Amino acid sequence: MARMRKKKNLIPRTEACADRFFEVPQENKGRWREACGMPSDCPLYVEIGCGKGMFSENMARNNPDVCYVAIEREPSCCLLAMERAKKAGLTNLFFIRGDATLMLDFFGPSEVDRIFINFCDPWTRQNKPKRRLTYRGFLDMYRQVMKVGGQIHFKTDNDPLFDFSLEEFAAAGWETSCVTRDLHHSEWDKENIRTEFETKYAEQGIPIKRTVAKMLEKKEGSDI
Ligand SMILES: C[S@@+](CC[C@H](N)C(=O)[O-])C[C@H]1O[C@@H](n2cnc3c(N)ncnc32)[C@H](O)[C@@H]1O
Repeated sequence: MARMRKKKNLIPRTEACADRFFEVPQENKGRWREACGMPSDCPLYVEIGCGKGMFSENMARNNPDVCYVAIEREPSCCLLAMERAKKAGLTNLFFIRGDATLMLDFFGPSEVDRIFINFCDPWTRQNKPKRRLTYRGFLDMYRQVMKVGGQIHFKTDNDPLFDFSLEEFAAAGWETSCVTRDLHHSEWDKENIRTEFETKYAEQGIPIKRTVAKMLEKKEGSDI
């Protein structure tokens, strides 16, 4: 994927979004709802790699009682996503400008109810399966921050990545459901919120693959 050019005035524009951005997200570990001014019993949903934030914005608007935290490691993308959320006046969408590999530093044990992974890098050409966000090492990390019964909602355009992910979910003991290789022509399309990349792929006629993986149990010693 081509890297986005650094945005002009990145620092002042980021500062202007200070009400939804945490410079040191580690400080919110275990207390995201409180830090975001949301009720202590509300669901906490996390999107990994939110890009320019179209999906997060629409999800947050449609579900005002859910606390959303979107993680994006590219500063310019993260800025656009934050500005989008600010413009929309959303008070339940917050951002981490950082790398999801640091999830264990960002979130406490069982803090997260749901994770969205949309159109992540397949790493198929470079043949680096361990870097895929659905690799079992990542799944074990998500398991630590998620509640039992929590879900990962996963979408991709990429068939090999989808096959790989279904295998990884099964191998790591996650229960998959709502499996489709053509989401936009499935029974689930009416409730589907499209992402930027999804819109682009749909225009090219590429079918979207999607599954929901449920975490059935904590592993021994995984809830630190
Ligand atoms: C292909 S884009 C998809 C963007 C968006 N989810 C969509 O569907 O339109 C993948 C995004 O994930 C981000 N990303 C990839 N790996 C990440 C990681 N480990 N932590 C945070 N962001 C990541 C990239 O910077 C990029 O913006």
